[in-house]
Amino acid sequence: MIKKYIFGNPFPTHATVENAEICNHKLPYFKTDENGNFTLNLDENDIVYGLGEQIRGINKRGWKYVSWCSDNPDHHEDTHSLYGAHNFIIVSGKELFGAFFDYPGRLTFDIGYTKINEMSVHAERNNLAVYIITGENEKDITKQFRRLIGRSYIPPMWAFGYGQSRWGYQNEQDIRIVAEKYKEREIPLDSIYLDIDYMERYKDFTVDKNRFPDLEKLTADMKTQGIHLVPIIDAGIKIEEGYDVYEEGVKNNYFCKNENMEDFVGAVWPGRVHFPDFLNSDAREWFGGKYSALTELGIDGFWNDMNEPAIFYTDDRLADTLKKNDSLTSKNMGIDEYFIFTGMVAGLNGNVGDYDKFYHNVDGQMIKHSEVHNLYGMNMTRSAFEALQKIQPEKRTLFFSRASYIGAHRYGGVWQGDNKSWWSHILQSMQQLPALNMAGFLFTGADTGGFGCDTTEDLMLRWLQYSLFTPLFRNHAAAGTREQELYHFSTVEAMGEMIKIRYSLIPYLYSEFLKAALNDEMLFRPLSFDFANDEDSRNIEDQLLLGNELMITPIYKQNANGRYVYLPEEMMLVRMKKHDDFKTEILPKGHHYIPCKLNELIFFIRKDKAIAMCTPVDCTEKIDIGTAKLLGYQGSTYTLYKDDGISHDPKGSLEISVLKTVDI
Ligand code: GLC
Repeated sequence: MIKKYIFGNPFPTHATVENAEICNHKLPYFKTDENGNFTLNLDENDIVYGLGEQIRGINKRGWKYVSWCSDNPDHHEDTHSLYGAHNFIIVSGKELFGAFFDYPGRLTFDIGYTKINEMSVHAERNNLAVYIITGENEKDITKQFRRLIGRSYIPPMWAFGYGQSRWGYQNEQDIRIVAEKYKEREIPLDSIYLDIDYMERYKDFTVDKNRFPDLEKLTADMKTQGIHLVPIIDAGIKIEEGYDVYEEGVKNNYFCKNENMEDFVGAVWPGRVHFPDFLNSDAREWFGGKYSALTELGIDGFWNDMNEPAIFYTDDRLADTLKKNDSLTSKNMGIDEYFIFTGMVAGLNGNVGDYDKFYHNVDGQMIKHSEVHNLYGMNMTRSAFEALQKIQPEKRTLFFSRASYIGAHRYGGVWQGDNKSWWSHILQSMQQLPALNMAGFLFTGADTGGFGCDTTEDLMLRWLQYSLFTPLFRNHAAAGTREQELYHFSTVEAMGEMIKIRYSLIPYLYSEFLKAALNDEMLFRPLSFDFANDEDSRNIEDQLLLGNELMITPIYKQNANGRYVYLPEEMMLVRMKKHDDFKTEILPKGHHYIPCKLNELIFFIRKDKAIAMCTPVDCTEKIDIGTAKLLGYQGSTYTLYKDDGISHDPKGSLEISVLKTVDI
């Protein structure tokens, strides 16, 4: 049951698609006041799930989280905000309920940080809607919530293939080399990503003709090999005379305004930019239409970036910093001056104060950005999604975004932002998955191998063994870091085998994804969601249930030749070096230590279940589900979804086949 409680005058976020019963009684569970505070006592054994992309564990207790979409390529355990703002939690223990705080500005969740047994939620202004959801269990509550917020985005099937990306591919030749090297090594590949270097001076919807003289031909050549090119689109529009997107935006008042009603100026990759006003429906439609510049060249996938929006600096703040700099010339900087100066420089990027300096035109009303900050990225992806429905209505386009709010899950996926080549970021990504699924984001995954810092060979191999289960499976790295295309490593063969395992699993993963999307369910779940009465399951932070058949248990520690695994019931352990070279063993409920070599993948099949595995091929378009065999418990069956992988309404073309296990 869902009840909606209204405080003050909430801004219409469009997070929800269904109407919930408005309740005029007192909000249950929480103590409230007039300043946007909601407090709740936590029982010692309560678990708090949710908050989507936020850092830390599956159980969110013990930290303070701030919903404020932030560009943070250097996030650690002590970070408060990441790229997405997903204000949905489930409290499970003495009481069981879900709560969605639909508020697009700054919202703080202090979950046992200030007081260990108290949760307090604070909205900067007391203008919000709170939805309280009660149900039988966590899965039921999530399902009701997901129905409220609408069906999750379904990408084309090719988006489940492996993708190679790097910030730093400079020209057409670099792209061709990646494709060639993967072919040479016989490693499957479905996409290569174009980072900002394909653009002319970082201007959206342009192509640098010197470096990419014929992108249309390149796109077509790649397609003949089953490879899709996926360009990046950034939020900021370069201020440059003669640049049509800039000039049209200025002429039609499509950019965000400052307090003097002039186009607001911030700086990102291209230097000074204006920010399209994605909360203005005309501007949204205009910007979305621009994607056709690339779809006309054969492009059918995009990643939307820097859409928190990231602001490297504003002119005023930069001028103050430079003034300070001048005043320090040839001075002996002492402790105070030193910290003031370095603080000013560090404070240029993403300064909270800058988000108070611009406005959106929402149906003729000027709204201060900071009051609706978390909706910006969502509306950028909405703009693209809605336009592409018109531009190429016959097919699904791949979309994923960096910034998001609940509701954005209807328009695209999200990648988990700029992580690092750290072991801890494998675990971090894994812990984000169920909470992202709760918030509707099913198409997601982390930069495999790590974005920032130099990866190591073993980290890459272990990361592949984790990411090969995530819907978005992309190897991406930052400029200046160690090259991490798989052919750079001495263990390339073992890595290639992991990619082939992914390809033999794609029909299964795609089926489970579709089942989850069409039934408003989660693809990845904490163990406790399925084994609610099992005490040990409630404490497991590093294993996840995937679909209805699997449990994944990645290794996320360097030099670990195995790991502890908890089985909430009897399960089948699978050790796999190649898609057709594996061993299985049935293990009883309980705690086990599972040795696992670096070139080995381990995962578990749940009792009396089986999964379909196909013969791997070099790209998704060649997958033949006629080759499917079942791996799992004798006598079990599996329902495989088969559609054309590209039409918009997958319901129209679903076929179900029940497969039976063969001997293993
Ligand atoms: C941002 C993105 C990253 C991209 C880089 C350059 O940091 O998050 O993925 O490579 O910008 O465009």
